[in-house]
Amino acid sequence: MKQDILRSLSPDYPWGDRIEYFPTIGSTNDFLKALAKQGAPHGTAVLAGLQTGGHGRLGRSFHSPEGMGVYLSLLLRPECLPTQLMHLTCATAVAMCDAVEKTAGFRPGIKWTNDLVYGRRKLGGILTELGFTPKGTLDYAVIGIGINCRQQEADFPEEIRQIAASVSMVSGTDISPARLAAAMLEALAQMDAHLLTGKEAILDAYRMDCVTLGKEISVLRGDDVRHGTALSVDDEGALVVAYPDGTQETINAGEVSIRGMYGYL
Ligand code: BTN
Repeated sequence: MKQDILRSLSPDYPWGDRIEYFPTIGSTNDFLKALAKQGAPHGTAVLAGLQTGGHGRLGRSFHSPEGMGVYLSLLLRPECLPTQLMHLTCATAVAMCDAVEKTAGFRPGIKWTNDLVYGRRKLGGILTELGFTPKGTLDYAVIGIGINCRQQEADFPEEIRQIAASVSMVSGTDISPARLAAAMLEALAQMDAHLLTGKEAILDAYRMDCVTLGKEISVLRGDDVRHGTALSVDDEGALVVAYPDGTQETINAGEVSIRGMYGYL
């Protein structure tokens, strides 16, 4: 698999010597965070054929069966304040839309803030995690992405079968995980090159891809649920929601998740 990824990568890819591949791993994000703490360099990537403990935000698991998806984490060490990286998940989502479009010929949508979707189904998700030095400055960012690549509907566990899809299902052809992984790495390297200087353009692109905007949504905070309309994405990537009582709220991903009024989207 690693050789297939390397063969598919453009010669311009800057971090070809920093790719680690494991047939089986707990979580590529957890493994890469451990490498980051040991001093691994900017651009280190960890990929796996299968994750036994793949996870997303708020402790949710990410189903990661063998050979079916791309499970990838990338380490960045941007020289900036943590507050300058509020748009990192948005930037990653746009880069992943680019990678899927290049590989499979269709462009996914983004469900704010970190889900890649097509129609009413989820194709994948993003988990970004920051690490700090003892002084409280930014040490690293680990960007984790899981994209369903090869599954057919029957391959998904029953509980997500109606709300999950793979890139191959949508494109109607068998998409190689190695080719998709290479396109994802290339798109992430491009993203990194413009992350701090191209924030406005990145967020404009995000707004174009974001399917949540204009929709009626439920905002969930633990047991608390509020219904509103997704108005806009602000200049930090936060979602501005309008409520029926005329108030507005700007929500950061943090502890909040959103749902469509009638289901996942
Ligand atoms: C989500 O759906 O909320 C985010 C899922 C992120 C899953 C990816 S798979 C690679 C990396 N390793 C993990 O444990 N999580 C991310």
